[in-house]
Amino acid sequence: MTENGLKEQIVKLKKKKDALILVHNYQVAEVQEVGDYIGDSLELARKATGVKTSIIVFCGVRFMAETAKILNPDVKVLIPRSDAGCPMADMITRDDVIELKKKHPGAVVCSYVNTNADVKAETDICCTSANAVEVIENIDSDRVVFTPDKNLASYVGRKVNTEIIPFDGYCYVHTRFSPEDIEKSKAAHPGAVVLVHPECNPDVVDLADEVLSTSGMLKYARESAGTEFIVATEEGLIGRMSREIPGKAFYSAGRAHFCFNMKKIRLEDVYRSLDEEIYEVTVEPEIMEKARVSLERMIAAKL
Ligand code: 13P
Ligand code: SF4
Repeated sequence: MTENGLKEQIVKLKKKKDALILVHNYQVAEVQEVGDYIGDSLELARKATGVKTSIIVFCGVRFMAETAKILNPDVKVLIPRSDAGCPMADMITRDDVIELKKKHPGAVVCSYVNTNADVKAETDICCTSANAVEVIENIDSDRVVFTPDKNLASYVGRKVNTEIIPFDGYCYVHTRFSPEDIEKSKAAHPGAVVLVHPECNPDVVDLADEVLSTSGMLKYARESAGTEFIVATEEGLIGRMSREIPGKAFYSAGRAHFCFNMKKIRLEDVYRSLDEEIYEVTVEPEIMEKARVSLERMIAAKL
């Protein structure tokens, strides 16, 4: 079947099954094109909360689909590839969090949404890259254990007065950007604005004009007077920016970097997911209840 034929079939099947397709900014272009809504982790979590359809097909990595399920348990949530995980989320276990709590009694635990449900269940409040600073600023404690991303922890730590106790996790995609990549890109495009995701190493964050979530970058580039942007994040977002903001130029910082898990989902997988109603995302009820508390605190904060 041609790409357009497949897209038409997906649209038909989506209507027939009363489904909504949520797509993260890092997905391949053709999957973004069949999405009802494309966004960053926070936007997609918020969107999932209010969904009234029978099915959500979540095109992203597992922790994102799990978040949608936890926030909207009555909806059937499908992920088109069961092996689309996030290595950073898998760097921390529930036992690690329990250990951290013993080691730092009285500290509030804030976890990045890039965590598995059992880690969220041991967490006081979640955050995303879009609201991490505001979430921490609103925590009534002078010590916060921050898991799992040490780079987001370092970025936030520089912005707030709270003591941040980081876990040692990181994203293998964002930590590939180097200061030399940024310097080279700046030399090639001297007028360009440098946009950096906070999962990058601190020496890369130091060279940013703006540090933003994926959708934060998109919004900034849309509204900015600037016409050229050097972007240090996964390539899928840079593609979206180039497609949706004509007349402005977007350059990968140094080399393009890809999240292989995000890129596993293809149109064929989306079709099969809808057709066969696979792979259903499930979370143990006890874990789900506890994880929902930390997610709802973040959502309720309306930061
Ligand atoms: P955003 O919330 O900025 O989309 O980031 C998600 C992510 O996994 C970044 O690597
Ligand atoms: Fe996880 Fe990094 Fe991929 Fe985001 S880009 S899903 S943090 S591995």
